[in-house]
Amino acid sequence: MPHKTVDYAGKVLTIVGRPVTDHRDGQQGIPGMLLMLPETTTDLRGPLVNDFDSRQLRNALGAFATGVTVITTLDADGIPRAMTANSFSSVSLDPPLVLWSIGKSAMAFDAFTCCQHFVVHVLKQDQQALSTRFASREARTFDDLTMEHGIGNVPMFSDYLARFQCELYECLPGGDHVIVIGKVLDIEQQEGEPLLFYSGQYQALAGTAE
Ligand SMILES: Cc1cc2nc3c(=O)[nH]c(=O)nc-3n(C[C@H](O)[C@H](O)[C@H](O)COP(=O)(O)O)c2cc1C
Repeated sequence: MPHKTVDYAGKVLTIVGRPVTDHRDGQQGIPGMLLMLPETTTDLRGPLVNDFDSRQLRNALGAFATGVTVITTLDADGIPRAMTANSFSSVSLDPPLVLWSIGKSAMAFDAFTCCQHFVVHVLKQDQQALSTRFASREARTFDDLTMEHGIGNVPMFSDYLARFQCELYECLPGGDHVIVIGKVLDIEQQEGEPLLFYSGQYQALAGTAE
């Protein structure tokens, strides 16, 4: 088993792992931290896999309250595509990067992983219907919606709490999802309260925490 010794916060750690493919250049097997999938370390030992099923995993992840976004792009045929996502998160301030993850089985998978630009709309509390529409294959239509056009002619909604116009920066492997990283080219904000998603349900802000 390949291993590597690193100095981490004043401690010497031995990282033991198996080489994985570096998806940035397709090369495999160069032993280095980025190419190693850690399995055990000298001071971070513990069971790798506890006995849980995907329902329990979903329930536990549902304890992490998030906002809700609808992300739009144009596919290779110039057709507008959109999907609801709550995996949106910040990555970096300089350069300005954000991420979200898309399931490999999503209809718009190719559109989002091969696009040049996409737009993330953080939804307001009263936009639950928009979220439901773009989470459902049957309801997913732009009919009756007034759209604007942003960088790269990407269709955009005019109502949002925050809107991030992004250039596709990188796609990284993430199990049954792909992590889509975008470089933020433009930001806009409007007044309002956020739509939240918690415990598998849409929620609203109750107020300021004590
Ligand atoms: C609140 C909410 C958040 C979601 N977040 C994501 C997400 O981050 N990534 C993802 O791939 N799908 C997410 N989905 C599911 C997609 O919106 C969509 O339903 C799913 O990809 C199936 O799409 P398909 O009909 O194109 O196959 C979310 C759905 C909801 C309702």
